[in-house]
Amino acid sequence: MDRKVTQIHFSPGGTTAAAAAEISGALSQDFSTIDLLKTKTPGEISFGSDELAVFAMPVFAGRIPGVCPDMLSRMKGKNTPAIAAVVYGNRAYDDALLELTDILTDNGFVVIGAAAFVARHSIFPEVARGRPDTADKEILRNFARQCGNRLETIASQGHITVKGSRPYREAPPLPLKPSGNSRCNSCGACVKICPVGAITAEEPRKTDKAACITCTACIYVCPQKARSFRGLTYKLAGGAFRKKCSSRKEPELFA
Ligand SMILES: Cc1cc2nc3c(=O)[nH]c(=O)nc-3n(C[C@H](O)[C@H](O)[C@H](O)COP(=O)(O)O)c2cc1C
Ligand code: SF4
Ligand code: SF4
Repeated sequence: MDRKVTQIHFSPGGTTAAAAAEISGALSQDFSTIDLLKTKTPGEISFGSDELAVFAMPVFAGRIPGVCPDMLSRMKGKNTPAIAAVVYGNRAYDDALLELTDILTDNGFVVIGAAAFVARHSIFPEVARGRPDTADKEILRNFARQCGNRLETIASQGHITVKGSRPYREAPPLPLKPSGNSRCNSCGACVKICPVGAITAEEPRKTDKAACITCTACIYVCPQKARSFRGLTYKLAGGAFRKKCSSRKEPELFA
């Protein structure tokens, strides 16, 4: 594709970025990336109508993560075609895809394709373990090609309709908060990645529970595997969740 393709993602556990890369990679071999977890407070970035933006967000409690709308508000389109993808942990994506497409439309993007994909649940990783798998990746690439083919015609046909309802569902904070153990060697990786400053360099095994948004970034970045969810509440919640959400869900495409 001749267009410049930019992938914009927030991916504390890595699966959203991986799913998005399948889409972006099928559209362009040299796509650029804006990682909102690393950039945290990006300056305003403008996209032209001759570009293509691929936005990918994980689903947190049926919405996009609460820290993301502000980050996304700095991405400005000028009738720029965009693909919207949300990635969820085999429960449900509720209003997350609608919320993402609404934000993009408000910011000057024309959503030419949208989809919800399933990935390993970042809090209960036994659920949807190994996803996105080979079959998911094939669907991701086909979806990208479908969007690419429709690119030139759809911009003039208006916006696509996705599943979800307004007002969006409430997304209360989860009571589960990760902490570190004795394997921690104070490397500081979790301190740097935390999007809300809930971990200090002085005491990286601890977590400011009031600030923590349970994003899981500190767990997946830790080279010592020192940070995790612990305790009875987590064990009980995990058992109930696995019972409820183990049967395989498939990607849903709107293109
Ligand atoms: C705080 C939080 C809330 C979540 N809420 C949902 C949810 O409502 N539905 C669901 O199916 N998965 C939910 N998940 C699972 C994530 O959407 C899923 O694991 C996703 O792949 C995470 O993306 P990442 O690996 O890029 O961080 C939640 C995960 C977290 C951390
Ligand atoms: S990333 Fe892991 S090892 Fe490094 S400071 Fe955080 S908890 Fe400790
Ligand atoms: S402390 Fe909480 S908010 Fe910070 S990276 Fe860990 S899970 Fe995310």
